[in-house]
Amino acid sequence: MKVTISLCVFASLLVTFTDAAALTGKWPPVDQPPPPVKEWTALVDLTKVPNAPLVKVADVGVKCLDKDTFCNWSCSNCTKPDSDVILCPTKGDWGITFDDGPTENTTGLLDFLDNTGDKVTFFVVGSRVYENPEILQRAAKAGHQIGIHTWSHPYLTSQSNEQIIAEFKWTEAAIKQAVGLTPKYVRPPYGDVDDRVRGIATQLGYKVVIWDKDTNDWMSADDKSFQLTWIEGNFTEWVKEPATTGHISLEHDLYKQTAGRAPIVLPIVTKAGFSIKPISVCLGEKPYVEDVSLNTTTTTAPAPAPTAAPTADAAPAYPSAIPSASSTPATTSAANTLNSANLWSFVSFIVGSVMFI
Ligand SMILES: *[C@@H]1O[C@H](CO)[C@@H](O)[C@H](O)[C@H]1NC(C)=O
Ligand SMILES: *[C@@H]1O[C@H](CO)[C@@H](O)[C@H](O)[C@H]1NC(C)=O
Ligand SMILES: *[C@@H]1O[C@H](CO)[C@@H](O)[C@H](O)[C@H]1NC(C)=O
Ligand SMILES: *[C@@H]1O[C@H](CO)[C@@H](O)[C@H](O)[C@H]1NC(C)=O
Ligand SMILES: *[C@@H]1O[C@H](CO)[C@@H](O)[C@H](O)[C@H]1NC(C)=O
Ligand SMILES: [Zn+2]
Repeated sequence: MKVTISLCVFASLLVTFTDAAALTGKWPPVDQPPPPVKEWTALVDLTKVPNAPLVKVADVGVKCLDKDTFCNWSCSNCTKPDSDVILCPTKGDWGITFDDGPTENTTGLLDFLDNTGDKVTFFVVGSRVYENPEILQRAAKAGHQIGIHTWSHPYLTSQSNEQIIAEFKWTEAAIKQAVGLTPKYVRPPYGDVDDRVRGIATQLGYKVVIWDKDTNDWMSADDKSFQLTWIEGNFTEWVKEPATTGHISLEHDLYKQTAGRAPIVLPIVTKAGFSIKPISVCLGEKPYVEDVSLNTTTTTAPAPAPTAAPTADAAPAYPSAIPSASSTPATTSAANTLNSANLWSFVSFIVGSVMFI
């Protein structure tokens, strides 16, 4: 009896412990295009979404259309002011952004930022949020802005409307459950955005954040000839450029060596007289749907007693069109979704090793 009771206590402690940070509910497999959800697709009037062609698998990241009819930023630098944010509008402002986390490589960066009081913007991958919600909680609590990247990091101009919606909304749902916040800003992987992607983002209530200063730091992941000192070399030149606006720079916290550049880079920016600001702050807009401000505490004052954990919103009803080995007509589309998901994850893997932004 005694043994049973203590075993039970032990088991429940174990469950409490292991569940402490995990998201609840059922979530899509990581790093694969997540399944569309009817309720989310219904949020967008697809008849109003510009009918830009989907880029073929073989052309992804490589080929631009002959005529830039649909304003593809990564092909032509084309932007649409109503939806796109390329830079901080005010001279002297600098939006430092880090993409593709949160992971264990983010924590050292958060330590550094706690010390300096600098507040940056993280565009997070839903799959990483699912794996590391506690790191996202730490970033949000410290007052950094959290924005949506995608769930599986595809080239969005190659994805169907329904898939683009799913990439954003599954990531939004993971962030909402982890930190209780609904971001109003998205960043398309690789800056791959055209009018179709914009049309969807706008109807979902998001602004699209790109950048005007790219460190290319992601190259250091598999290109041995990439010198990390180029990152600060670039910043040193950028801060000296004559400019009538502020800037938004792109870095990655996914890699230890690129996140680890912040202690060199951020002082270059501040010493040159720039103010480092989250994107929503430099725009003078709200970062989230919820009526909350970013925590602007700028010192390492002792932390106040922890507030209650954010309400654990249930994961959205997982679509029935998901993995099932059965081959009834109802699940045929599920099988198709899965196959194309696998194909896409393979393609993204290949493309990712060539160009992971
Ligand atoms: C948009 O640009 C990206 C990156 O260059 C490219 O891979 C994609 O094919 C382009 N999409 C369209 C619709 O032109
Ligand atoms: C886009 O802008 C970047 C940076 O200003 C520049 O290096 C590049 O040549 C431009 N590309 C096109 C197609 O205009
Ligand atoms: C605000 O951020 C600081 C620095 O990271 C942290 O110590 C503090 O606990 C945060 N305050 C709240 C109310 O979350
Ligand atoms: C800036 O970065 C590029 C690679 O993105 C590199 O070729 C160039 O040398 C760097 N500039 C400096 C001054 O380090
Ligand atoms: C952290 O960075 C290292 C070095 O770039 C990388 O090999 C590792 O995969 C990263 N960790 C995660 C969880 O992505
Ligand atoms: Zn990315």
